[in-house]
Amino acid sequence: MMKWIASAAFGMEGLTGKDLKRLGAENVNVLNVGGASFEGNMEMGMKANLWLRCADHVSLVVGEFEARSYEELFDGIRAIEWEDHLDYDTAFPIRAHCVKSTLMSPSDCQKIAKKAIADSLKAEYGGDWLPETGALVQIDVSIRDDKVTVTLDASGEPLSKRGYRTWNGEAPLRETLAAALVLSSGWHPWQPLYDPCCGTGTLLIEAAFIALNRAPGLRRSFAMEKWPFVDKDALEKVRREAQSKYDECAGRPIHIAGSDIDPEAIELASRHIRQAGLSGRIDLYVKDMREVTLKGEPGAIIANPPYGERIGDRRVAHAVAKQLGELSKRCPGWNMYAFSADMGFEREFGRRASRRRRFYNGKIECEYHMFENGSLQKNSQTHTRGGKA
Ligand SMILES: C[S@@+](CC[C@H](N)C(=O)[O-])C[C@H]1O[C@@H](n2cnc3c(N)ncnc32)[C@H](O)[C@@H]1O
Repeated sequence: MMKWIASAAFGMEGLTGKDLKRLGAENVNVLNVGGASFEGNMEMGMKANLWLRCADHVSLVVGEFEARSYEELFDGIRAIEWEDHLDYDTAFPIRAHCVKSTLMSPSDCQKIAKKAIADSLKAEYGGDWLPETGALVQIDVSIRDDKVTVTLDASGEPLSKRGYRTWNGEAPLRETLAAALVLSSGWHPWQPLYDPCCGTGTLLIEAAFIALNRAPGLRRSFAMEKWPFVDKDALEKVRREAQSKYDECAGRPIHIAGSDIDPEAIELASRHIRQAGLSGRIDLYVKDMREVTLKGEPGAIIANPPYGERIGDRRVAHAVAKQLGELSKRCPGWNMYAFSADMGFEREFGRRASRRRRFYNGKIECEYHMFENGSLQKNSQTHTRGGKA
């Protein structure tokens, strides 16, 4: 059984652990910092890449040991069976990362690691030169509290890059964070969802992916698919399974819509929706949120308003919080979820949140304010409507 790490930003570790259990990963362990570890074969690593909605990277752990000197670091890395992972011509760049350890020079650790792996490969394949002209395997050496973890980056580009967003508007949300906001809300996928300041449409697209049982990574590739020695047919099968799960659910009705005061943002949102393959599934309007009224069956309003740190200023942020409070009053029965760094948000909104959750948007600490009526209570199981991934 192989050990893997799904790295995730602060606040998203638990959601990542839950997703991993749902995928059938074994020995899932939510880490205090940085994500969750799990066990499984190569296919499980591929499944994690395809399906994890809130994680940044999936990595295969190939070595764990303690090192307080460069000799110990060299010996620990040299002892790993590199010939199981790297061919004689594999390109193997190394990133090193040191936290609270005796060895605190990433550049020196990187050089030692390169030397140790080259030494091992030369002994295995013969010769004294490694061309590194073949497939690329990115290696990470992470040292924390003198504990070394050596991993292979199975994702490549961060998992937030789903492939649909090619244009950034003002302060867009990372896709992984948008998914986390939808997943930690009380919204059920068959209920209406509305984003009254949708910007480039990230929240709407991630919600549609969840409602349609679509693996977020379905339309992109992953580094591990090019690794030497992986069974490419087996990985392709995992991809095909994800595609057929989506095919089964793609036609189901969804009620997801959004608006923004800025016509350019709506133009970008509709482009992203098209690029996500969701044309015609999400309704968009150019509208000031002061003019939004929602009728029919109630659902969830999820908003990422301007909050004065990156766009607009504090006064604008306060004004928007007030407008969201008024919108909430105009839509009885709807639950409101607002993600903001504005410390005075609830005061301006006019109500205390029933639940709160903290996330970081880049380096900005934000609060997710949840104003729930009690009629739409959180039940995370319902997010998997359409069966297990
Ligand atoms: C932080 S951005 C939202 C980013 C979005 N979540 C994304 O991923 O692209 C805030 C958005 O609020 C919009 N906005 C500001 N005031 C508004 C108002 N009164 N009515 C509707 N939208 C408004 C801005 O045009 C901007 O697109």
